Amino acid sequence: MLLYIHTNVHFISKGGGKLNLFILSYITNSLMKENLDVISLNKKAWNNAAKKYELAKYGKINSLAELFREKLPENAFILDLGSGTGLPFTKYFVDKGFKVLGIDISAEMIKISKINVPNAEFRELSMTELDFVNKFDGIFSNYSMLLLNPTLFKDVAKKIIKSLKINGLLYLALNEPREKNANFDKDSVVKILGEEMYSRAYLEEEILTIFAPLGLNLLKIQREIISSKEFGIEHCIRLLFKKKLLNK
Ligand SMILES: C[S@@+](CC[C@H](N)C(=O)[O-])C[C@H]1O[C@@H](n2cnc3c(N)ncnc32)[C@H](O)[C@@H]1O
Repeated sequence: MLLYIHTNVHFISKGGGKLNLFILSYITNSLMKENLDVISLNKKAWNNAAKKYELAKYGKINSLAELFREKLPENAFILDLGSGTGLPFTKYFVDKGFKVLGIDISAEMIKISKINVPNAEFRELSMTELDFVNKFDGIFSNYSMLLLNPTLFKDVAKKIIKSLKINGLLYLALNEPREKNANFDKDSVVKILGEEMYSRAYLEEEILTIFAPLGLNLLKIQREIISSKEFGIEHCIRLLFKKKLLNK
């Protein structure tokens, strides 16, 4: 996408004049709209779905989340990205003695999580607005980055690296497409818990191509096929990364 803008700006700047400025502002506006739509669509959806999601008790502690926890230093500071109801993960980390900041785009989710996990801090914030530097020992994202389109995903990946301390850990759980050749960009507006939202499957190659050049080492990958009334059959992919010494 960046390459696309760059190419167009270069092309436009050769011609000069009002028309070029108009084209440039059209491109910028279209891109902003694309991003704004995903964020506002999902904010509305998750506000409406918050109570149903809590009742579904969907999340389960898995062995990669346990490994993430085991590898963290004592008194680690964890950022839970898209912390949802705070259950079971934020509570799990707080109970293990860690300091946790949960952020979520949905005010309704934040209300629920504050009741469920009073000893964690929660803020209503989109992960696209993250602005921390070398702050966290661990960042935990369980089924939240799949709610971003590829442009936003790449942008948030950079913000994650910036927010992590050297040697910090990233746990990331997403869904893979069921078929490798499926057009997952086409089918990414889905109805979940009765709400229309953006949710996209990501291939292992896409994830590694985004994170590896930013200075993360892959420690482990785990896959599981899970089935639930709310989300149907999901091909889960979970990855554990560690931030390298040199921040490129
Ligand atoms: C599938 S739920 C996962 C919640 C929790 N991590 C769990 O495992 O149970 C996705 C969560 O991400 C939140 N979310 C969606 N888009 C977000 C964004 N741009 N920034 C922060 N949170 C977001 C939703 O409000 C929702 O609480």
